[in-house]
Amino acid sequence: MGLAAIFCVISLLALSISSPTTAQTPPAPFLPPSPAPAPAPAPHFVNLTELLSVAGPFHTFLNYLLQTQVIETFQNQANNTKQGITIFVPKESAFASLKKSDLGNLTQDQLRILFLYHAFPKYYSLSDFKNLSNLNSVSTFAGGQYALNITYTFGLISIGSDWANPKITSSVYSTAPVAVYEIDGVLLPLAIFSSDPPLAPAPAPAPEATKTSDITPTQSAIGAAPKSSESSTSGGSSYIASVPLLNCFVFALSGSLMLTM
Ligand SMILES: *[C@@H]1O[C@H](CO)[C@@H](O)[C@H](O)[C@H]1NC(C)=O
Ligand SMILES: *[C@@H]1O[C@H](CO)[C@@H](O)[C@H](O)[C@H]1NC(C)=O
Ligand SMILES: *[C@@H]1O[C@H](CO)[C@@H](O)[C@H](O)[C@H]1NC(C)=O
Ligand SMILES: *[C@@H]1O[C@H](CO)[C@@H](O)[C@H](O)[C@H]1NC(C)=O
Ligand SMILES: *[C@@H]1O[C@H](CO)[C@@H](O)[C@H](O)[C@H]1NC(C)=O
Repeated sequence: MGLAAIFCVISLLALSISSPTTAQTPPAPFLPPSPAPAPAPAPHFVNLTELLSVAGPFHTFLNYLLQTQVIETFQNQANNTKQGITIFVPKESAFASLKKSDLGNLTQDQLRILFLYHAFPKYYSLSDFKNLSNLNSVSTFAGGQYALNITYTFGLISIGSDWANPKITSSVYSTAPVAVYEIDGVLLPLAIFSSDPPLAPAPAPAPEATKTSDITPTQSAIGAAPKSSESSTSGGSSYIASVPLLNCFVFALSGSLMLTM
């Protein structure tokens, strides 16, 4: 009969397709190859100004980027290169811990260099920092002599500048070609701050407070009066998540900071 013939042909075809050696495992020719997590669509335009104004608060950093027009250099790199960009964004409290005159006394050129110093002209995921920590130094956007030292220890990533070694406290955005990581200090190169350490001689319980605030968020947030407007790392993540533009957030990476500790 006709149907039987069709079944027969199909069976024969199936047999001829599946090789005898793999007969035990059923072939799945119509499934896409699974080990390909890379998203197919081309990377979309990331508006850095918008990203930095909704994530954060990063107003001080963003204002300096706008004032020095470094934002255009960064945006151009994000838009037009395959290399991409990695930006380290100090929290608001990091600027507050600097002596008032330190940034105020810089020339416009020095300010420009300082903020170019806060980025690598290449995209790095958090896991890439493991490899970078094997290098002596990594050149920033400000040029070869303005380098940073990466230290990766048990999932904690520190960014070494001459006067400060802030650590990455959260991943704000990390989808090639753009990475934005929050750090808990301003990067301070010797070539700009040659005379003396620009950090204010303030007592320094603040960096540890971010750790304890994860455990007792409300208490410590109220306790630290001058910094009460600043959210903790975990608080940051929650309102970042509410921004539709940023739905490519790599929370897993952010989480790995903690998990691998
Ligand atoms: C980027 O975002 C800023 C702030 O929302 C906006 O003023 C600017 O026009 C945007 N730029 C582009 C190219 O969309
Ligand atoms: C970046 O790309 C956006 C969208 O294509 C464009 O509007 C903007 O002018 C570009 N900016 C730079 C600095 O290349
Ligand atoms: C910054 O400039 C002010 C006024 O010109 C000056 O009094 C002060 O000593 C300067 N501070 C530093 C650290 O150079
Ligand atoms: C990191 O280093 C490991 C081992 O040295 C290497 O296999 C891997 O390809 C490197 N990854 C990157 C992104 O360079
Ligand atoms: C990076 O490390 C090298 C070697 O330890 C050191 O000489 C250099 O001063 C460091 N650079 C910075 C910016 O910390």
